Amino acid sequence: MFLAGRHAEAPQEALQVLDIVLRELPSARYAPFGRSFFSPDLGRRQPLGDGLESWRGFYQSIRPTQMGLSLNIDMSATAFIEPLPVIDYAAQLLRSDIHSRPLSDAERVKIKKALRGVKVEVTHRGNMRRKYRISGLTTQATRELTFPVDEGGTVKSVVQYFQETYGFAIQHTYLPCLQVGNQQRPNYLPMEVCKIVEGQRYSKRLNQNQIRALLDETCQYPRDRERDITQMVKHNAYQEDPYAKEFGIKISDCLASVDARILPAPRLKYNETGREKDCIPRVGQWNMMNKKMVNGGKVRSWMCVNFARNVPDKLARDFCHQLAQMCQDSGMDFALEPVLPPMSARPDQVERALKARYHEAMNILGPQRRELDLLIGILPDNNGSLYGDLKRVCEIDLGIVSQCCCTKQVFKLNKQIYANIALKINVKVGGRNTVLVDALSRRIPLVTDRPTIIFGADVTHPHPGEDSSPSIAAVVASQDWPEVTRYAGLVSAQAHRQELIEDLYKVRQDPQKGPVSSGMIRELLISFKKSTGEKPQRIIFYRDGVSEGQFYQVLLFELNAIRKPVLPWRQTTNHR
Ligand SMILES: *[C@@H]1O[C@H](CO)[C@@H](O)[C@H](O)[C@H]1NC(C)=O
Ligand SMILES: *[C@@H]1O[C@H](CO)[C@@H](O)[C@H](O)[C@H]1NC(C)=O
Repeated sequence: MFLAGRHAEAPQEALQVLDIVLRELPSARYAPFGRSFFSPDLGRRQPLGDGLESWRGFYQSIRPTQMGLSLNIDMSATAFIEPLPVIDYAAQLLRSDIHSRPLSDAERVKIKKALRGVKVEVTHRGNMRRKYRISGLTTQATRELTFPVDEGGTVKSVVQYFQETYGFAIQHTYLPCLQVGNQQRPNYLPMEVCKIVEGQRYSKRLNQNQIRALLDETCQYPRDRERDITQMVKHNAYQEDPYAKEFGIKISDCLASVDARILPAPRLKYNETGREKDCIPRVGQWNMMNKKMVNGGKVRSWMCVNFARNVPDKLARDFCHQLAQMCQDSGMDFALEPVLPPMSARPDQVERALKARYHEAMNILGPQRRELDLLIGILPDNNGSLYGDLKRVCEIDLGIVSQCCCTKQVFKLNKQIYANIALKINVKVGGRNTVLVDALSRRIPLVTDRPTIIFGADVTHPHPGEDSSPSIAAVVASQDWPEVTRYAGLVSAQAHRQELIEDLYKVRQDPQKGPVSSGMIRELLISFKKSTGEKPQRIIFYRDGVSEGQFYQVLLFELNAIRKPVLPWRQTTNHR
């Protein structure tokens, strides 16, 4: 009925059927994951480090479009566990040879975490390559391991068992065994007889070097990507696909062609006191030269903590001074001198260092009834968890605005870098760098004709393997009108992997008033009213990260949650 044009909207089920038909052939040829397929035959495999490698592949799905049914194909690449002997894999992971020494506790835990859930095949039984899923790693070394052979309490050592049963002499008896099977009755497999099964995707968090290596693989010029996609479609030979044929599906070899135009860049408004009062970006670029921020924020008191061992205090001081000067020149009300001179601190003591330094600063500022407006952190280039730790302490414990700079930037002492950092600081302390000329002259359709608030929302989910972590919902909303340039943000932790934003609307029990409506939408609407003096008459809500399958569910739930706190207003005013 759908293909005969009897449905205006494509029913999900119909699309799913077509998707399944077209997935059948590639599913048999390649390793399928979600809507993507990967294979070592689809391009080179590249080492990503620490026992991982990247495989190339493609994404495929059927989409209803304005041109009718379309097949959406894109190139992709993802991380796979290298099919190495387990000992070699562990050695890569630890970056150290373990063929002739026992493991430390920390090493054992690291290997256990990496290997849990991974499938291995055994190599000590000739062609009998049985496969097992790893459930753990023993605490003892192989040579100490025994297991019961009967009900009477007779035990046998693993070493002896392998010798008797398979005629196999275990070499690396000082290494732990892999545990397979359930925890109550585990099976022990020596690491040396196990090899990782090929084709296992790695879905846990990648480290920074692995991310970089994977990006190097996937980052392509549009022209090269187009060529690869076209080749992929040819390679897949959909016209030969027996399943597609059976269902009468034909797929064109050519890319769809869409008319497009390049929108003119918006004219940007800067401060009247600058030499250039506005500007038109060219090819997506412009700079702050001769311009001042339209609203410069206030930073009357600040300090710097330096976590990079290779940045001397003098350099940190010069860098901060130049940065302060740039902030001032760009239009901020920015103190040139810090409350305290820059101090070096060890990255592993971030919390202690920040709190101690903060209290020192407050000893000076407190009696003058002043606050600390900004903390500048200088971070080593590979900062590990430092960035997150610093943000957590500043935002949750101390309640101060922070700006991190990496060592690379500090050494450059470059005006363009100062200017870019100044723009970030200004926004964080509540200033506005620039606004749209079209907004001021009320020429933005559906935004400037009446008070309008723009929301943006997304949910970040924890990586597979971080099973006890919550998902984090983030909602921002514009706080000025007609400019829609300043945004307030809220975050809220919610159920693991939940895409619906739970806290958009909530009912709170008030001891006096009883149940009152609250939640992120209401909070942001109220703060809009406070900062603009007007109630918004229109809400525009951008929502990222919702898959096609969940779209209507999320739409229904969230639209309802957006409307609820607004309903009482609608009854008292005449707004459409
Ligand atoms: C420019 O900056 C000054 C203070 O530096 C401020 O009073 C004024 O409102 C700003 N805005 C514009 C549009 O000039
Ligand atoms: C710190 O490291 C994180 C990744 O761990 C990276 O996203 C961030 O840009 C780094 N920040 C600085 C200031 O170096």
